[in-house]
Amino acid sequence: MQFADLIVAWQKNHGRHHLPWQNTQDAYKVWLSEIMLQQTQVATVIPYYERFLAAFPTIHSLAAASRDEVLALWAGLGYYARARNLHKCAQAVVTQWQGEFPRQAQDIMSLPGIGKSTAHAIAAFCFGAKTPIMDGNVKRIFTRYYGIEGQTNKREIENRLWEQARENIERADKNLDMPAYTQGQMDLGATVCSRSKPKCDACPLQASCYAYRENRQAELPTPKTRKAVPVRSVNMLVLQHQDRVLIQQRPEQGIWGGLWSLPEFHDEQALQSLQNDWQQAQQTAIKLAAFEHVFTHFRLHIQPYWLKCSHLPLREENGNPDRHQWLPLEQLETTALPAPILKLLQGVHQFSGTGDLLGS
Ligand code: ADE
Ligand code: SF4
Repeated sequence: MQFADLIVAWQKNHGRHHLPWQNTQDAYKVWLSEIMLQQTQVATVIPYYERFLAAFPTIHSLAAASRDEVLALWAGLGYYARARNLHKCAQAVVTQWQGEFPRQAQDIMSLPGIGKSTAHAIAAFCFGAKTPIMDGNVKRIFTRYYGIEGQTNKREIENRLWEQARENIERADKNLDMPAYTQGQMDLGATVCSRSKPKCDACPLQASCYAYRENRQAELPTPKTRKAVPVRSVNMLVLQHQDRVLIQQRPEQGIWGGLWSLPEFHDEQALQSLQNDWQQAQQTAIKLAAFEHVFTHFRLHIQPYWLKCSHLPLREENGNPDRHQWLPLEQLETTALPAPILKLLQGVHQFSGTGDLLGS
């Protein structure tokens, strides 16, 4: 048997069959799952996927939702550009494709937020298209099996991988089960040909695998060169009035775009002016425990301060009235807050009044 047929046979006996987005050809559900799974693990995705589908059972309901509703259901999953594009994509499918996902990978790829491999996965899962996929898991299997050296994000290597993937489909049984093959590559990469300590003895490809034969599993795929990640620092203010905190919507562009977060400041003077803006009584803000959040290209060092104000600040709004709101602490879980900010505010909620939060 050839590569693809071996994977299909393995998938039927040893692959995953009961994930919530399997056993359907509904492109809306498959697309949603593939976007969520792009940078997030299966176990984390499952509850998000289910909540999301319960709130938006059809692509029409997603397209008609507000961006805030979409972001609130995404909050905590990270990589928020995915959620913004998801919303745009739903609107594009409704307006440009009458609410039906296009069937050709080329057309699927033209939609917001859908890359080549994801488009091909949707075409294979939902429409039985004979198109290969090439995500991180699959690149790992191919580079090891064929002994392909070089960084897989380089154009030349990438082209070679796609070419090999196309060839494998051509060489396979002409009735190749595309959904099983596609799922099988994902499952094999996730459960057997894992990044560290692959389980070669459970692998259907072992007999002809280059990396196994040469014992080079640890060297393939060729590691990407990593730049040292810079650290950025920011101070944030938790301004609390009774059971509410002041939150601010982030600009569209940049990290946590469109999510709700805390007002930020860079030095003592800026803190003073924030305090003056929102509070008359001259109390001092309490320094809470600092923490770090890791993004793709930098680490963010966050120093939170906590200030309780006894009067609701006089200042209503100057400027954009939508960008600030006083959020009841009971509504933290249903608001589009980034995960580390949610955690911080849950801490404030829990300990508010006891003084246990005081950082060192
Ligand atoms: N990762 C990406 N797509 C997946 C899928 N369909 N099942 C499990 N993990 C995945
Ligand atoms: Fe990966 Fe090992 Fe299978 Fe080769 S034999 S494809 S290295 S799990």
